[in-house]
Amino acid sequence: MKSNGYQSGFGNEFATEAVAGTLPEGRNSPQRVAHGLYAEQLSGTAFTAPRSHNRRSWLYRIRPAAMHGAFAPYLHSHFHNDFGKAPVTPDQLRWSPPPMPQVPVDFVDGLFTMAGNGSPEGQNGIGVHLYAANKPMQGRYFYDADGELLIVPQQGRLHIATEMGVLDVEPQEIAVIPRGVRFRVELPDGQARGYVCENFGAMLQLPDLGPIGSNGLANPRDFLTPNAAYEEAEGEFELIAKFQGHLWRAPIGHSPLDVVGWHGNYAPYKYDLRRFNTIGSISYDHPDPSIFLVLHSPSDTPGTSNMDFVIFPPRWLVAQDTFRPPWFHRNIASEFMGLVTGVYDAKAEGFAPGGCSLHNSMTGHGPDAATFEKASAADLSKPDVITGTMAFMFESRAVIRPTRQALDAAYRQRDYQACWAGLKKNFAPT
Ligand SMILES: [Fe+2]
Repeated sequence: MKSNGYQSGFGNEFATEAVAGTLPEGRNSPQRVAHGLYAEQLSGTAFTAPRSHNRRSWLYRIRPAAMHGAFAPYLHSHFHNDFGKAPVTPDQLRWSPPPMPQVPVDFVDGLFTMAGNGSPEGQNGIGVHLYAANKPMQGRYFYDADGELLIVPQQGRLHIATEMGVLDVEPQEIAVIPRGVRFRVELPDGQARGYVCENFGAMLQLPDLGPIGSNGLANPRDFLTPNAAYEEAEGEFELIAKFQGHLWRAPIGHSPLDVVGWHGNYAPYKYDLRRFNTIGSISYDHPDPSIFLVLHSPSDTPGTSNMDFVIFPPRWLVAQDTFRPPWFHRNIASEFMGLVTGVYDAKAEGFAPGGCSLHNSMTGHGPDAATFEKASAADLSKPDVITGTMAFMFESRAVIRPTRQALDAAYRQRDYQACWAGLKKNFAPT
């Protein structure tokens, strides 16, 4: 499916049609929709949610979403929301990049659940997954009823054909597919790898800016939502649904990507992380990493997120009499980190692009020994500049439970703690 370009803005009341005259004027559900289409509402929030949080769109499509065969279980042992009941290790955990598949695997089959918390049933928490794929989804479509999908490509572009238009994303961009929206992923570079945060909680939103003011961090106009695009195709296709932590498959005789026009504020979008307006200290110390917040899923407790999506982009470090890299810390929040490209400034080695780490609540972590030595002796009379990197974090108020398959993965670095072993005792009271 070919892209028809994008509309800009975050959560706007968008309106777009791939065939002129599709959208009804002055109403949503006329007796007969233009061009013989069906009208269908897709709601992402409760009907009665406050206006500022209310999200829904009206879709005008060739066939309604109700048309498909019966669902049967689809066995996919690696992609689930079974975060276990076993005790969670307080160890620092890190993984090397997962290997690319050796047999043909598409985006859905290439998902591998690393960790998570909460549940789709409770509508809180997150699932953290990696994907590695080398085959386009052909004749097969997917939707996730359990949460919205924040996709962070690390290697290889993704061509994401959705009901509401096409998102073309590359590493250092992100894509967000709302709960329930059907899509298919193709791989323009032949293979692709990256990270997915499945958000069971409140929809991702831009943070308030407080004293930062009316601009800064991720600016709303840099978010891009697709213009309507559709395919008209009949055949023996397959619709995969993720529902309550399990996958289901149903036969479908047509492409569900058949929305000719739509309007509303519930839609997929993409964002280029390189457009992030990074803010930091120009005097001393550096602020808490909440200053790097791109999007967050709030919880019922003010200021305490179900999920924060935070990035560590290129930036200048100018602070004086300051240890410039990230400091040693323990947080109540739990942190799953990934690296899209380059080097993360708290780790000299071992944290590779495509890899990931998990530091749970109150687990001590921070710069490794080599980074500490270097930064402690750095010449602060001139600024440092960090270039060519993009690390990120899925941070959650609740402990992020690693899955059994993640703990057992061959690419888990079982010697991760050794990166701090070389920190010297420097204490000298006299
Ligand atoms: Fe941390």
